[in-house]
Formats: sequence, structure tokens, C-alpha cells
Amino acid sequence: MILDQFKRPLRDLRISVIDRCNFRCPYCMPAEQFHHSYQFLNKNEWLSFDEIERLARIFVALGVRKLRLTGGEPLLRPDVDLLISRLNMIKGVEDLALTTNGSHLSSWAIRLKRSGLRRLTISLDTLHNQIFKFLSGNQGNVTDVLSGIKAAETAGFKRIKINSVIIRGVNDGGILDLVRYFRGSGHVLRFIEYMDVGNQNNWELKSVVTTQEILNIINPEFPLKNIGGTDDGETSQRYTFLDGAGDVEFISSVSHAFCGTCNRLRLSAEGKMYTCLFATQGTDLRDILRKGSSDDTIQARIQMVWMARQDRYSQERPQNRKVSSGPKVEMYHIGG
Ligand code: GTP
Ligand code: 5AD
Ligand code: SF4
Ligand code: SF4
Repeated sequence: MILDQFKRPLRDLRISVIDRCNFRCPYCMPAEQFHHSYQFLNKNEWLSFDEIERLARIFVALGVRKLRLTGGEPLLRPDVDLLISRLNMIKGVEDLALTTNGSHLSSWAIRLKRSGLRRLTISLDTLHNQIFKFLSGNQGNVTDVLSGIKAAETAGFKRIKINSVIIRGVNDGGILDLVRYFRGSGHVLRFIEYMDVGNQNNWELKSVVTTQEILNIINPEFPLKNIGGTDDGETSQRYTFLDGAGDVEFISSVSHAFCGTCNRLRLSAEGKMYTCLFATQGTDLRDILRKGSSDDTIQARIQMVWMARQDRYSQERPQNRKVSSGPKVEMYHIGG
């Protein structure tokens, strides 16, 4: 086990397998910047499955227990199920999950289940078609995502997490509709406070709908009870419906930062390692890999970076936002 400067262990590795996405969510990849001629990574810049598997084994040797595949949209990476099967074989991996926008899930669900994927997280910010259109940059529709969720259920995925980013004046009117739809489904709706990730979304504090505000909307109709926090390195606070209709989670990274227990490391599709979602710089592991370095050399490099880690952006957000420390890494590069 290795510890960073605040005694946080490395446990969770989030691997972005592609920087492309078929959506253009205005808070992540606004269509004006990410137009048809935008230069995404070339395929030869992506880490190969061999390289990802090799790095994953090294990370597991350093204490990682949880792997999550992200994008962009990870289901756009050809044969991603083959990668999942390989990661699933690594001894020491206790959790293997994937975050998707759900639009292509119907055709993927069975293959994902067969590959050994253990958990799925699906983004769905609204059930309202017009608002969905706006929030996906006119690229998606609610029906496809709901069909994807059904297909995943049928394929055998349980307790699917549904991520909903709530933005004031955009989709906050649909909070109760989401709650009504997912209560009693066996899946777990998660409300995420809108964050200032990346450099594209013109984030403002006033657009954030806090966990407390969302609780104030849900509680009068569907009373909730807090059943646990974020002490063990998780991002969510958990609540359960008093009538037994299941759980709801809240990711309060703006109103209650959870940097104190943050054990997450992110790997971009081109092999850069980032120690924070809000990092301005990464460490190029692809270059070391392709130079023919030994596992020991790569492990030592990762260890050095983790041991020097001092990130706690969300805790320092009020000060950070006044200081410009260069452009932050984009969400579609490291998958959230
Ligand atoms: P579980 O494994 O189910 O606990 O999910 P997770 O929280 O590890 O992963 P998920 O991708 O579902 O995370 C949901 C969202 O929480 C992300 O997309 C981000 O918006 C936010 N989030 C996750 N990790 C961090 C983090 O380290 N810092 C901050 N500030 N936000 C995070
Ligand atoms: N703030 C909060 N969550 C975000 N996501 C993307 N951008 C942001 C943001 N600015 C979420 C997506 C998805 C997950 C990968 O990250 O909605 O659920
Ligand atoms: Fe939207 Fe996720 Fe695609 Fe970003 S990566 S544009 S948040 S679906
Ligand atoms: Fe971890 Fe950075 Fe998020 Fe804090 S802001 S929880 S250090 S990723």
C-alpha cells in the first residue's frame, strides 16, 4: 500500500478508453468547440489493450482494488468487452465497473455481462425529452437510454447506478420525476452537484443545486433517511426511502468536498495519469511503456507521483477559483 502526502492510499483506478463521445453535453463537450472537424486522439495514440492490462496489473500491485472504465463514451472503443475480460482475470481486482451515457447500451448489455463486468453506471440527467436533447447537445434521446437500462437489467446487471447532474434552471424541475421513475426499481439514482471540471462549461456557483436543496425537494413527498457517508473513500452519501423503496445517493463535491478520503487515480486514453479530476498536469506513462521500460521502473514512477500527491481541489475550491493555475484536464479525457 502506498500513501500520498495526506496519508490517502491508492485504491481506485479510473481508466478512460477513448476521448470521443456521441453526445455533446454542454457541460462537458459543448458542440461549438467539439464540431465535426475537432481533432480527437488518433487510434495509435490510444493505449492498446496490452498496455492497459499491463498498467492495471502494476496498479493492482500498488494497492488498487477497484477499476472503472470511462471515456468519453467507453462503448465507442471497439471490442471494449475483450479488455473487460482481460481486466477481470487480474487477481486482486475486487470491483470492475463502467460508466456510460447509455445510448448504445441496448446492443452491448449482454456482451458486457458475459465479459465479466460487475457494475454499471449510466448517466441520465432528465426524463424530459426536450431537456435531454439540450443536455446531450441534440445528440441523444431518453428512450434509447431507458431501453439501455432495461437491456442491462435483462442481461443480469443489478443495482445499476443512474448518475444525474442537476443544473439550476435547466433540469432541476425534473428531480421528482427521476425519483418516481427509479424508486422501487432496484437501481440507485445518484444526484451529482454540478462541478467546475474542465474549462469549457462556464461554470458558476449559482448554477449548482446542492444536495441539501435536492433533499428539500424529495423529502416532503418521499421521506429519506441518511444511511452512510463517504468515510471509506466513496464519493456518495447514501439515503434510503423510509417506505422501503430503495436507496438514493448524493455526490456533494461542491457543498461537502470529499478530498480527505480520495483514493482515486485517473488514466487518460493516451496514457497520462492524473491524481485529481481537476488536475492541470498529468504524467505520461505511455512514453515510459513504449520506451521498453520494465514493470519495476513503471511502478517506481507511479509510486513517486502518488507519494508526492497533495491534491484536494474541491476542498480548496473557494480559493482555487481565484488563482489561475493553467487549463484543467477535460472531463471527456478522464471520464469523471
Ligand atoms: P461507485 O464506484 O459506484 O461508488 O461510483 P464512483 O463514484 O466511483 O464513480 P462514478 O463514475 O459513478 O462517479 C460519479 C461522479 O462523481 C463522477 O462522474 C464525478 O462527477 C463525481 N466524482 C467521482 N469521483 C470524483 C472525485 O474524485 N472528485 C470529485 N470531485 N468528483 C468525483
Ligand atoms: N459536473 C458534475 N458531473 C459531471 N459529469 C460530467 N460533467 C460534469 C460536471 N461538470 C458527469 C456525467 C456523468 C459522469 C461521467 O460525470 O454526467 O454521469
Ligand atoms: Fe456527455 Fe459523458 Fe459524453 Fe461528456 S463524455 S459529452 S458528459 S455523455
Ligand atoms: Fe479527489 Fe481531486 Fe476530487 Fe478532491 S477534487 S475528491 S482530490 S479528485
